Amino acid sequence: QPEPAPAPAPATEAAAPAPAPAQVYVVGTDAAYAPFESQDEKGEIVGFDIDVVRAIAEKAGFEVKFVNTPWEGIFNTLQQGDRDFLVSAITITDERKQTMDFSDPYFDARQLIAVRQDSTVSKFEDLKTLRVGVQTGTTGDEVVTKLQGKNSTLIKRFESTPLALQELQAGGVDAVVADNGVVENYVANNANAQFKTVSDDSFEAEQYGLAVRKGNTELLEKLNQGLAAIKSDGTYDQIYAKWFGA
Ligand code: ARG
Repeated sequence: QPEPAPAPAPATEAAAPAPAPAQVYVVGTDAAYAPFESQDEKGEIVGFDIDVVRAIAEKAGFEVKFVNTPWEGIFNTLQQGDRDFLVSAITITDERKQTMDFSDPYFDARQLIAVRQDSTVSKFEDLKTLRVGVQTGTTGDEVVTKLQGKNSTLIKRFESTPLALQELQAGGVDAVVADNGVVENYVANNANAQFKTVSDDSFEAEQYGLAVRKGNTELLEKLNQGLAAIKSDGTYDQIYAKWFGA
């Protein structure tokens, strides 16, 4: 029995040219820094910084893929081209500006001291002769190194800020110096740790920026334009309220 002839292929409509796929940027972040960037129960990267970058991307018309990247070496991943830009509560400093370019600032911060509740520490100077935990290579590390001297054996450096704070709870250090937002978040969410915070006017104002490779003005302009847009239309304020309260 002969097979029926195959039905003719339906006439195709003239296809509209496919829209150019949006550019996807790979974004490095050290996701152990709540509420700025952390991993939720599902392992997804979430936080204030993440929402800010997503909102910028939407305004500027590109897509983002976040990659969890340890702080130590995070700047190398940018230089080597493995990441297109970084968002990681990164303080804009003159030293860092020599090797990368920063967006306009998007967040104000300063250092804050965490101690156990029974501590007598009342000012930064008091840490001169105490064991202090910091995250390696952060601005917290810089200020404590300046206070104690670079040969001090009392500075304990950790690969993440939560590890430094856990060591404070365990009694292995007497204080931790880190960004205020992260210290406040940890103290608020870990009542069992029995910490208190100590602020000090000698800490300088810091500002966070997004970091791109030196000379990548094309991307930098997109980031700055997106940032200006989310600041002027209220999106930034909504994200701020979501993570820090109104
Ligand atoms: N703001 C500090 C600095 O730039 C600490 C940033 C640490 N960020 C992080 N995601 N671990 O040095």
